[in-house]
Amino acid sequence: MHDLTSLPADFVWGTATAAYQVEGAVAEDGRSPSIWDTFSHTPGKIDGNDNGDVACDHYHRWPEDIELMKRLGVNAYRFSIAWPRVVPGGDGPVNPAGLAFYDRLVDALLEAGITPYPTLYHWDLPQVLQDRGGWPARDTAEHFAAYAAHVAAALGDRVTQWTTLNEPLCSAWIGHLEGTMAPGLSDIAVAVPASYHLLLGHGLATQAIRAAVPHAQVGIVNNLGYAEPASDSEADVAAARRADGHSVRWWLDPVHGRGFPADMVEVYGVDLPERPGDLETIAAPLDWLGLNYYFPTTIADDPSGPPPFTREVHRPDVRRTAMDWEIRDEGLERLLMRLTDDYGASRIHVTENGSAWPDVVGPDGQVDDPERIRYLEEHLAACIRASRRGAPVAGYFVWSLLDNFEWAYGYDKRFGLVYVDYETQQRIIKGSGHRYGDLIRAHRRDGERAA
Ligand code: FCB
Repeated sequence: MHDLTSLPADFVWGTATAAYQVEGAVAEDGRSPSIWDTFSHTPGKIDGNDNGDVACDHYHRWPEDIELMKRLGVNAYRFSIAWPRVVPGGDGPVNPAGLAFYDRLVDALLEAGITPYPTLYHWDLPQVLQDRGGWPARDTAEHFAAYAAHVAAALGDRVTQWTTLNEPLCSAWIGHLEGTMAPGLSDIAVAVPASYHLLLGHGLATQAIRAAVPHAQVGIVNNLGYAEPASDSEADVAAARRADGHSVRWWLDPVHGRGFPADMVEVYGVDLPERPGDLETIAAPLDWLGLNYYFPTTIADDPSGPPPFTREVHRPDVRRTAMDWEIRDEGLERLLMRLTDDYGASRIHVTENGSAWPDVVGPDGQVDDPERIRYLEEHLAACIRASRRGAPVAGYFVWSLLDNFEWAYGYDKRFGLVYVDYETQQRIIKGSGHRYGDLIRAHRRDGERAA
């Protein structure tokens, strides 16, 4: 397809999953419920009233899943660690049986030549901490750092690549403002402190990881929005600027030592729960930035909506995935350039990118998914273009290794390179999985030829 040689020879080729979406085994080995167990068991919150009780049973089938990764040829696996398995009380003692699961997983990955990229928080806050105030409460940030310290102490002899948070935007804005993700609240007065304490937790956890693992490489993963105004009107242009503040600057500026954007503090109208020293903690130096990219948005002014008083405009005549998300790879290129030019990123991983389609198993037992292959190739081409323009793109992780529990959409939306039959837990590598493997092998061969 494209000139894969423009990607660095040591390019990281990965796939990604998250604990609650794949593990299942929610009541095993001492795991306590998370806010996602509560949310998914609340009638009406999830399509089909699905939940993650069993999911892909990855908790038991991980050896088979590592075999699948070997067949794909990836050299990295981004997964998340479930806080309620490791510290079921939210704070306090470690549960050795919970930690042991990740210990085994890490050993087996390394043995398979696959670098582990654990994320410490992919949305599954222990419910006990939600009951004590959740992310709007400052203590949660401190408990998060204590949990991070435990995990780093246990795995830091083998794990070098660490992610603190996955998409804090979703935890704060979707979980506390839009209400369609756990914990399902809709109040800017709690969403703003939640966002603040998530970033504070990120900074404290970064310090904790570095203290335990001197050679750790630490990153944060954001799903940055790419907002275009719906028209040239002053109101829509200002709305797109607010959308950008809400989904990009609010998350990146503080981490880069620029503080929280003043224009957005004004838009939200909520005081920050700031204490002296917090901004320095939040801006703890990072080794890399993770970018999750799916789609761009077209934004119009909407004074009647909740902050940031914007609304998404549905553009006609654009290709869309089964999620109804627009397919526009140039958004990925632009965001990679923005991280490079505006934020001076020295290393960027595309930590998630992928697409859902209504996959079916054919009469021959195979799963053909040409749309996913096209999506993959177009977005890899965007990485290559950005790389040529100087963006330090160091890795790319397909979302997802497996079809899995897609949060409020349940099991209906399939993102995997590998198809999962939820009745039997049978796995089938889809056409896109085979294609991804071919691309990885082609890049490796190019590298060997050049050497
Ligand atoms: C991202 C999430 C991930 C997955 C994809 C489709 O926002 O990080 O868990 O659900 O979307």
